[in-house]
Amino acid sequence: MDIDALILAAGKGTRMPSPRPKVLQTLLGETMLALVTSTLHAMPRIKGIFTMVGCEAAMVSAEADAVASRLGRKAYCIEQKEQKGTGHALMTAMPHLEGEGRLLVINGDAPLITAEVLERFLDGAEGADVAFLSLELEDAASYGRVVRKEGSVQAIVEAKDFDPAIYGPKEDAHEVNTGIYLFSLPAVRKLLPKLGNSNKSGEYYITDLVSLGLEAGMDVRGIKAEGSGCDGNALLGVNNPVELAAAEELLQARRNAAILASGVVMHGLSGIRISPLATIEPGAEIYGPCEICGSSVIRSGARIRSHCVIRDAVINGGVEMREFCHIEGAEVRSGAIVGPYARLRPQSLVDEKAHVGNFVELKKTYLGKGSKANHFTYLGDTEVGPGVNFGAGTITCNYDGKNKFKTIVGADCFIGSNTSLVAPVTIGDGALIGAGSVIVDDVPAGKMALGRGRQVVKDRKS
Ligand code: UD1
Ligand code: CA
Repeated sequence: MDIDALILAAGKGTRMPSPRPKVLQTLLGETMLALVTSTLHAMPRIKGIFTMVGCEAAMVSAEADAVASRLGRKAYCIEQKEQKGTGHALMTAMPHLEGEGRLLVINGDAPLITAEVLERFLDGAEGADVAFLSLELEDAASYGRVVRKEGSVQAIVEAKDFDPAIYGPKEDAHEVNTGIYLFSLPAVRKLLPKLGNSNKSGEYYITDLVSLGLEAGMDVRGIKAEGSGCDGNALLGVNNPVELAAAEELLQARRNAAILASGVVMHGLSGIRISPLATIEPGAEIYGPCEICGSSVIRSGARIRSHCVIRDAVINGGVEMREFCHIEGAEVRSGAIVGPYARLRPQSLVDEKAHVGNFVELKKTYLGKGSKANHFTYLGDTEVGPGVNFGAGTITCNYDGKNKFKTIVGADCFIGSNTSLVAPVTIGDGALIGAGSVIVDDVPAGKMALGRGRQVVKDRKS
């Protein structure tokens, strides 16, 4: 049977001092919300993904929408206006959840969780009314403790409410709640009205559904996490900057190990940061430090030198990306050379064997096959045919303060150094522009244009 998922992401995260709510903190360039959502998206059993929003609801909803559209699905956000606890979040969600099916609930601050671990948990929770995933920890710190009697789960007791007189020494409690639950909806409907908030925090705890379920004679299971995907503290919540840094390192190590094993050559491994959403094909070569973010694709045979930042870009095979490039929302085709120090902005396309050199910026620009812009150049809203050479310091003047205009440069043109092309303007195939020109009118194919003051030579005054 299909399962819906609910991500709890309404809390403020008071232990994470930041103007952003906690679930919008990033690891390898991706928000915790994006990581959890894309993990759930990768699970065929999961049908709808609902997100509880509350603190900075508009910001979190906007990210939920952005993530969903990137994954090609719809976001469903439910607002929890006052954050009265994880149990209260579930109460707020229930009117939006129909039917007799099951609900996977996951804390939004568990960014390292994998689909594999969740799938194993769902298998173990098959048929249960209430199930949760637990983990053995040397130091259970501030996590909810799982209390068992002769192996059977009795309750989850929050650290604050843990009374050693009742439960025994705190140091002996090693099994913790990971904040991942599977509920049958009919069971939750029965139990939620009984949920109270008489505890140290005055909050409604989702974890109390465990003891309430047992009291009601339901099938309640605490399933211990084991096996792959449970490395380090991979199942734990990220509540403060220390935990965020540790989680990010763990994710980086896990990610790099998988990419290496798949057949990507990586130099300076510890400095290579690759988003979990990016695709790196076997046969690519990457030098650290560098960052490959978002849904970038680095194809087999591409070489990325150090200090590059690549976001949502496609780098094809045979591309040589030299040091210190910034690439965002652009594509570079086979055999092209980019950098050092190049900047490709969104909607730019560098075609096969083209060259983009140092201190060259392209915005919404197509650079044709084999064309070269090698030094100090800005091309914006420009279409360039094949075989064009731009001299150093070519600038397209694409903006008049109000509107943007296009520049079109035909095949095999030669644009002299320090030329301004004032858009809208078209340079016909094979035209030549003299160095230092300001070109305001179209130049027909095959012609030479000069737009500059004539040089005068005079005698020097003695
Ligand atoms: C929770 C669990 C604890 C478990 C730990 C695992 C409870 C009561 N305790 O504690 O047993 O060991 O997670 O990481 O659930 N949230 C809402 N609405 C609210 C409050 C919180 O949506 O009203 C969201 C938060 O944004 C967060 C998640 O729920 O993503 C968990 O809340 P948090 O305050 O971090 O719970 P913990 O104290 O870590
Ligand atoms: Ca937490």
